[in-house]
Amino acid sequence: MSATNCKVGVLAQETLAADIRRLTVAWTDPRPEYRPRAGQFFMLRSWSAAETPVLSRPISVHDADAEAGTLTFLYQVKGEGTQKLAALRPGDTLSLTGPCGNGFDTAAAAAAGRVAVVGGGIGVAPLLLLCKELAAAGCRPELYVGFRDEPYALEAFLPYCGAISVATDSGAVGYHGLVTGILHPENFDLVLTCGPNVMMQGVYRLCAAAGVPCLASLERRMACGLGACLGCTCHTKVGPRTVCQDGPVFKAEEVFDLA
Ligand code: FES
Repeated sequence: MSATNCKVGVLAQETLAADIRRLTVAWTDPRPEYRPRAGQFFMLRSWSAAETPVLSRPISVHDADAEAGTLTFLYQVKGEGTQKLAALRPGDTLSLTGPCGNGFDTAAAAAAGRVAVVGGGIGVAPLLLLCKELAAAGCRPELYVGFRDEPYALEAFLPYCGAISVATDSGAVGYHGLVTGILHPENFDLVLTCGPNVMMQGVYRLCAAAGVPCLASLERRMACGLGACLGCTCHTKVGPRTVCQDGPVFKAEEVFDLA
């Protein structure tokens, strides 16, 4: 897996909800091996090595537009690192390492047939590029998303999805309850998911009962992001695997169906 390290310029920083930001940077690396795929992430850092936090922040790719030369990240402000990222303004610079991780094989997913994409909260971040790549491969996925209260970032999905179904914990928008309450995996040939672990486990259980394959994108705390420190190792049916390099995308049965 190839990863590059470079400084990039901030083009836009938008507030989509109280703690949700969309950061767009200039990205013009022409080398195909550095073209980000859905499900991959970058390590972001806008502070010096002498400053805290010590570690860069792993943030998944929300969108990548090679023609426009832009890379977009959707992230939640929830600690010192993301607070520093949120302070960035157009014209500022930050350093990126990546793209990291395996990402989704969208050509294979599109060939599977009817595809459901299921997200929860900030887990929707990698799903925009995923839906975009699926649509480009001739498959219009159905999107199921769960939020605590108000949904965000969904307009961007409209051109790429056959349908969008929303569930909220508060009942403010869409179905009142968990996203698993509106998902029927038996209507699909493949389910792809990203969100809180407990939600993905619920999605996997429904898929297993319906005999439908499911791929899950995991989130872990990361130090190097490159498979070197083993700090993000998770247990799978096929042995220990690093989330940053072997994942973050795994067959759900390998990570949620452990003995
Ligand atoms: Fe270092 Fe994954 S973060 S091996």
